[in-house]
Amino acid sequence: MDCQTSSEYAENSKEESKKKGEKDVENGAPVIGEHFLVRRSDGTWNAAEIIQTRASEVNEGKEEYYVHYEGFNRRLDEWVEIDRFDLSNKLEDPHSKIKDMSIMMTDLSDGTDRKITRNQKRKHDEINHVQKTYEEMDPTTAALEKEHEAITKIKYIDKIQIGRYEIDAWYFSPYPEEYGKQSKLWICEYCLKYMRLEKSYRYHQSQCTSRHPPGKEIYRKGTISVFETDGKDAKIYCQNLCLLAKLFLDHKTLYFDVEPFMFYILTEVDRQGCHLVGYFSKEKESPDGNNVACIMTLPPYQRKGYGKFLIDFSYELSKQEGTVGSPEKPLSDLGKLSYRSYWSWVLLEELRDFRGDTRSIRELSEKTSITQHDIISTLQSLNMIKYWKGQHVICVTPKLVEEHLKSAQFKRPVLTVDPMYLRWEPPRKMLKLMKK
Ligand code: ACO
Ligand code: ZN
Repeated sequence: MDCQTSSEYAENSKEESKKKGEKDVENGAPVIGEHFLVRRSDGTWNAAEIIQTRASEVNEGKEEYYVHYEGFNRRLDEWVEIDRFDLSNKLEDPHSKIKDMSIMMTDLSDGTDRKITRNQKRKHDEINHVQKTYEEMDPTTAALEKEHEAITKIKYIDKIQIGRYEIDAWYFSPYPEEYGKQSKLWICEYCLKYMRLEKSYRYHQSQCTSRHPPGKEIYRKGTISVFETDGKDAKIYCQNLCLLAKLFLDHKTLYFDVEPFMFYILTEVDRQGCHLVGYFSKEKESPDGNNVACIMTLPPYQRKGYGKFLIDFSYELSKQEGTVGSPEKPLSDLGKLSYRSYWSWVLLEELRDFRGDTRSIRELSEKTSITQHDIISTLQSLNMIKYWKGQHVICVTPKLVEEHLKSAQFKRPVLTVDPMYLRWEPPRKMLKLMKK
């Protein structure tokens, strides 16, 4: 199965919704393509475009509308009912009306115009904003981006149940047809089999004997455990993992061709078994020098330090291989924040004792396995590097480092890899290459 099925599927639903839209116009209901102010789940009102409609599964006879909030990341797109619309306020030309962020973020719930501060806007832009408009992209990127959006516009799967968590999906994922149109999927947290019905899930739970990811446990410290799984040996599991991850990743396209990848799966262990927390995948051979292809922490575990643990893990593997590495691009908004935070921490720790000695960017790169390019961009963001006589020169004093380490923006990772607990050796092939 490939994305073609998804685009055919998008085409069919376009046809269906066209016919339905004609009816809606007749009875005055909002139709696809129209823009309204819509109340978001946090109570704020936002300009939104109607992307799709469907009959509500919960409230019989009612319609649901799939909306995209202008200026926000697509993971916030959602199905809403008509009571969330401000129908008195149909927006004719949303792009001219939402130029000013203060209009978009006006909170109508208490009748006051609460304007957001510049700092809030910057944070909002960093976390939720769509990166660029089509006009700002080069023509090829814009065309690819448009195609990607057409295929992935609607996340039919709203929610998943995995283990004890019910999780809201962020993006479209190409689960096979009959599963992909379900609003909720049930997923076994151990073997990642997906099911449409709770009944089948309960039955599966009573039958499934797996209690941890396939492959080899290569790290265990306390309750944290990491498994290394070869995409070739556990094809179905890895495909299921990619389909699951895609629900939270916008721009990644690896779902079925998993053989060229290794998967590093992070779990929390208790008496029941090893519960999936997150993972990263890594090409067995990366011509671009990537040490991570995709990385994801399941939402209930996010912002607890697992993402930076996984990043640290990927660099620990690169250190053992004696190479440098970088994550595959493009990075998502949250990916950028996590990597930036991780790189800053590693480099500030390294530069603590820096006395303007001979330590060069190359040496920093060899020690940390972070590429010189990533080191330079991080030091630029920390204002610790100058370009002088055709070369990048680190400009830093111990005082400046201490100031950064003490600043509110700096967060020491709560979880780091303890290399003593890593039971892993680079694949033989890699060792041979290193000896050459
Ligand atoms: N709002 C603001 N900052 C955030 C948020 C958020 N919702 N989530 C993460 N961050 C930032 C913070 O800066 C945090 O650093 P801090 O401790 O200095 O504040 C940093 O991310 C890392 O936080 P962690 O708790 O270590 O990471 P987490 O477990 O949340 O995982 C990850 C980060 C993997 C990016 C997660 O957000 C995720 O899975 N997102 C969806 C998938 C994704 O975008 N993956 C990256 C794609 S790029 C690639 O695959 C190469
Ligand atoms: Zn199972």
